Amino acid sequence: MSSKISLTRYLVEKQRVQGHIPAQLRLLLEVVARACKGISHAVNKGALGGVLGSADSENVQGEVQKKLDIIANEVLIEANEWGGHLAAMASEEMEGIYVVPNRYPKGEYLLLFDPLDGSSNIDVNVSIGTIFSVLKKQGDDPNTIDPVNEADFLQKGCQQVAAGYCVYGPQTTLVLTVGDGVSMFTLDREQGSFVLTQEDVRIPEDTKEFAINMSNMRHWDEPVQRYINECLQGRDGERGKDFNMRWIASMVADVHRILSRGGIFMYPWDKREPHKPGKLRLMYEANPMAWLVEQAGGAASNGRERILDIQPKSLHERVSVILGSKNEVERVTRYHQA
Ligand code: AHG
Ligand code: MN
Ligand code: MN
Repeated sequence: MSSKISLTRYLVEKQRVQGHIPAQLRLLLEVVARACKGISHAVNKGALGGVLGSADSENVQGEVQKKLDIIANEVLIEANEWGGHLAAMASEEMEGIYVVPNRYPKGEYLLLFDPLDGSSNIDVNVSIGTIFSVLKKQGDDPNTIDPVNEADFLQKGCQQVAAGYCVYGPQTTLVLTVGDGVSMFTLDREQGSFVLTQEDVRIPEDTKEFAINMSNMRHWDEPVQRYINECLQGRDGERGKDFNMRWIASMVADVHRILSRGGIFMYPWDKREPHKPGKLRLMYEANPMAWLVEQAGGAASNGRERILDIQPKSLHERVSVILGSKNEVERVTRYHQA
């Protein structure tokens, strides 16, 4: 008998033995994982599957959609709409929310996702991923079917009931939290299932590695300039140690590295578009990643407040993101207060 623990067994035990998650949430997470498996297969086919390149359309953020952005979005919707566990979904690739059609039973959960993160890396065979966040529709009377609307989604990140991502890299790895730590599962392609490969993931509190798009340096605010300048000065400067830099340009892959060996990731506000709070989206990029990072002992801030405490005002709102090793994130936050 194999001692491998599949995602299915892990979730069943979370529900049954530990009572951590309700059955509907377990089903939801299984379905999301199945969808990610489907996306992983599409990603792997690459040019052979005709999935590369642009789709000649734009999403609500005015970004050109890649074929895989649309394919991944459809895979997630089709997998999740009929199971009875959801009330509605929201995605980077859809302007409004997607209410579960009336022909299907409805549940109390809300699912948000960035179906394909790191779109600029799709065609060059560099790691990309799917990010997801699960909320519970508030104030529901189980005996009435209240209409669901966008306002139901506008909950703070600290109200998430599950969050995770799947990274499509040299391995396909699903990373998950339901609020009691972070676990990682690697896709076993022969078995067709995700297998638990790391439990109780911890991010070291200190690091010598930062991730930021340096080409934007001249546009950053003073506190971020100060922090990076000090890192660049290395052992001769304020920090007294040499730093290394990594920037994959897929948040999923950069955060995965930080969960695996520590580091700090920043996509800060900058002066190019001063009215835009940042590039990354609060509800389906920053919030799930912030919760994973906090659950692994790290920190996540916008420079002024904890990301998980920000009250969202709209589905696609953007936010400045600083996350990873706790002492470094706290240092950057301190620089913002100085
Ligand atoms: P998406 O592909 O979902 O639009 O997200 C891309 C994001 C994020 O994954 C990454 O950290 C960042 O954009 C990269 O931005 P730059 O190209 O400006 O470095
Ligand atoms: Mn993204
Ligand atoms: Mn995306």
